[in-house]
Amino acid sequence: MTRLRNLRRSKIIRDSLGHHHVERRQLIYPLFITSGHGVKKEISTLPSQYIYSPDVLLKEMEKLVDLGLNKFLLFGEAHEKDFLGTGAYDSDGSVATTIRGLKEVFGDSIFLISDVCLCPYTSHGHCGIPDKTTGEIKNDESISLIAKSALTFAEAGSDWVAPSDMMDFRVGAIRKTLDANGLTKTGILSYSVKFASAYYGPFRGAIDSSPRFGDRSTYQMDPRDMRQVSREISQDIAEGADAVMVKPALAYLDVIKTVRNLTDLPVAAYNVSGEYTMVKESASKGLVEERGIVLENLGSMVRAGADWVITYHARELLERNWLE
Ligand code: PBG
Ligand code: ZN
Repeated sequence: MTRLRNLRRSKIIRDSLGHHHVERRQLIYPLFITSGHGVKKEISTLPSQYIYSPDVLLKEMEKLVDLGLNKFLLFGEAHEKDFLGTGAYDSDGSVATTIRGLKEVFGDSIFLISDVCLCPYTSHGHCGIPDKTTGEIKNDESISLIAKSALTFAEAGSDWVAPSDMMDFRVGAIRKTLDANGLTKTGILSYSVKFASAYYGPFRGAIDSSPRFGDRSTYQMDPRDMRQVSREISQDIAEGADAVMVKPALAYLDVIKTVRNLTDLPVAAYNVSGEYTMVKESASKGLVEERGIVLENLGSMVRAGADWVITYHARELLERNWLE
């Protein structure tokens, strides 16, 4: 028997053994972009997170970079929506405009990943195009539009694209479209294992992207069936994904670990909006200590095997020096 507390006796020894800890280099910070000028608005469903117009985000980026953030996941908010989600492939849209502006100023000192989906831009709020009579979300018709959207962001200068729609074969369609247009260097972070989850509520509130009829359970995965995980991962890899994602993270740490063991590709964990608001709301009531909760949550994702952690906490984590 040993005195196990000897390994915990001082801060120096504890710090020296703290292997399972999130590090700044692993953080990806989501950003929300809307149309117009001079807009910086706090998102009511996501406390301390803002939605920016392209011009304001260009100015704010300086501060984010100074904090040490260098990887960003971009989302668009659209006021004009239509059946085919044409805003998703508008090269003058707010996301494409922002990418061009940011890349002109910051070049390769920042890494931009653009979320690719139709739901922010469709009048029905689905991630694909519904059949007009049955309402069924059509797969093969949707992926050509999704690939078109990915091309729009890649042409604007996005380093990578991240399809979040969960249609079959969209990674392959995107890879083929990018390559055919000479964009062989644009990588794909696939939302490979994405569950139909109640944890996305605050995000949908932020950009008004809830489905107007039905739900997403015919394309997003069922939280009760883990036997589809490995096939989703292998198919995305076969189609050309450069990295894979598990989403949400906290209720699916076992899945992150499974995916870690399935592939040597980078694995991203998405600490989604509902996971974030549960922490922010209880911390704002003084019920929990925010720093401790955030570090435990993000640390658990790293421990489960995530290389990258996509989190709304990223900015405050650095502003408040919580990683020191
Ligand atoms: C769009 C998309 C969603 C999220 C990321 N991309 C919402 C959804 O699928 O309805 C969720 C992100 C979050 O909750 O933080 N397909
Ligand atoms: Zn979507």
